[in-house]
Formats: sequence, C-alpha cells, structure tokens
Amino acid sequence: MNDLHTLPKAELHLHIEGTLEPELAFELAAKNGVVLPHESVEELRRQYDFEDLSSFLALYYATMAVLRDASDFERLTRAYLERAAAQGLRHVDVFFDPQAHTVRGVALGTVIDGIRAALDAARAELGLTSTLLLCFLRDRPAAEAGQLFDSLGEQLPRIDGIGLDSAEVGHPPALFEEVYARARAAGLHVVAHAGEEAGPEYVREALDVLRVERVDHGIQCLQDPELVDRLVAEQVPLTVCPLSNVRLRVVDTLADHPVLDMLERGLLVTVNSDDPAYFGGYVGDVFQGLRDALGLTDEQAAALARNSVDASFAGTERRREIH
Ligand code: ADE
Ligand code: ZN
Repeated sequence: MNDLHTLPKAELHLHIEGTLEPELAFELAAKNGVVLPHESVEELRRQYDFEDLSSFLALYYATMAVLRDASDFERLTRAYLERAAAQGLRHVDVFFDPQAHTVRGVALGTVIDGIRAALDAARAELGLTSTLLLCFLRDRPAAEAGQLFDSLGEQLPRIDGIGLDSAEVGHPPALFEEVYARARAAGLHVVAHAGEEAGPEYVREALDVLRVERVDHGIQCLQDPELVDRLVAEQVPLTVCPLSNVRLRVVDTLADHPVLDMLERGLLVTVNSDDPAYFGGYVGDVFQGLRDALGLTDEQAAALARNSVDASFAGTERRREIH
C-alpha cells in the first residue's frame, strides 16, 4: 500500500486562519494581551463540536482575534507549511480572510506581509510552492468587497486570486458579479465556495455569473444530475473537504461521504482540509481517513493526488515538475 503521507500532492482549499491550533492561539493571546473566553487549550478544543457552518464560523472569527502583527501571521503560516510539507504537499493555494482582520483594526498590508514571508521561506527551505487567494466574506455587503478590491493598490500584485467564503445560505454568488468581473479583468484566478450548505443553484451561479475556475466544496451538485453531467463534461475541479463536511454536519460520517463515488462518476475531485486545526486533520490525514472509512485504493489515492496537482494554480512548469 502506498504511503499516503509521501504521495506528492497539492492542497487547493485551505483557510490559513483555520490552521490556528489552540496551543498557538493561547501563546499569541498572551503575547498580544488578548483575552480568550476559554480557560485552557483543552477547554477551547472542547468547543469543536459544531452544529453547522455558522456555529463553526463564530468560533473561527473569535479565535483569530489573537493574530495582531505580521509576525503572528508569519508564525501561523510557517506552522501550517511545515505540517503540509511533512504530509507530502508540494504546492498549496492558500486562502485568507482580510475583512476578518481589517474590521478589528489590523491593516491588510500587515496580514499579507506575514503570510507572504512564510510562503516565500517555504519555497526556499521546504521546496513547497504556493499562491495566495484573497477571500471576500459573502455575509458582508458586496459593496464592501468592491471597496476592498479598490483599496488593494500596491498589494494587488501580491495576491494571485480571489475566493468567496463565510456563511453561504442567503448570500448567493451573483451578488458578487461585479467584483469578480474586475478581478478577472486584472488577471487574477477566481474561485468561490458554492454548494457546501446551499443547493446546486449556487454552483450554477458560481459557474455562470462569477465564471469561476474551480468550485470550493460543490458537493450539493449531487442533488442535480444535469449539473453533475455538466461538471463532468467541463471537468470543473471541485475542492471537496471530507473532514469538514462531517464536522459541520453536511454529511453524517466519513463512511457516508460521497467523495469516492464522485471520483468514480468522472468528476474532477480533489480532497482538502479546509480548516485543519478545527476539523481533525491535515490533508494527509484526510487521505488516511478515506482509506480507513471508505477503503480508498492506491489507484484512487493516486488519482486524487494527480487531480490536486492538475487543478492547482502552480503553473504549467511546476505542475509538470511535481508529477
Ligand atoms: N471559512 C472558513 N472555512 C469555511 C468553510 N468551510 N465554509 C465557508 N467559509 C469558511
Ligand atoms: Zn472553505
């Protein structure tokens, strides 16, 4: 059997703030004089019993308040990249949530400085390449996303693409049509979360209105056979996050997860960790979980790894090098 931790692979759906382990959260809280409403690391971990996406997001946004200066973002990102490299990752497309930081007075440049420093170091020290994708929070006004995009200025060349995340239901992709058109015109990659908790119509809108290159999650497409046919025909990459889906109660258990059926059906599926500090594992653990719960074969593992590299934003040369 293949060693799943050494299989060369890419991660395409990873929120850097979702890699904040409780130990680091408490350390940064002490450093920055931020009071977390939890007694200890263990008590914080005990909160990781989520009802749904919203209950997770409340804890996720509250805990990231410990991130204050560029060195905090750099440490967070470095810690993730070291774990990622140890589990066979050769490339990662990293999401970050700038509005979650600017609303509490942390400048966008500070956030990007810290994350970028770690990404650049990992390229040199770990041979791990990356891109950085700025996510708009869909439960905040679309006009705010437009203003954020306008304000990027000298930060624009420091990001590689945009995404759309946060509470999905009631915040359809089409609301963000204008800012996506501008991002595409600026030559950025475009992706969006769609079909995590909301239905297949959100996936269609992400494709038709936002013209995304990949769909993040997308598993609710299974409710609509015509949409599945289209996703197969167009080979649209789906960044599926099995552990996340179980923890956020989109799927009952890992043994019930449809990801391998999706793969066999011809969908261009990749597997990813989403928010690994909160959902019980990094991407190598996701592969291992699928082997334990669903009998993932070596061929399926190789197909998922190959898809992840092919669907990444690593660039043609680098993709070839990783294969
Ligand atoms: N932000 C961080 N993780 C997310 C998820 N799984 N869905 C939507 N927004 C998120
Ligand atoms: Zn996500």
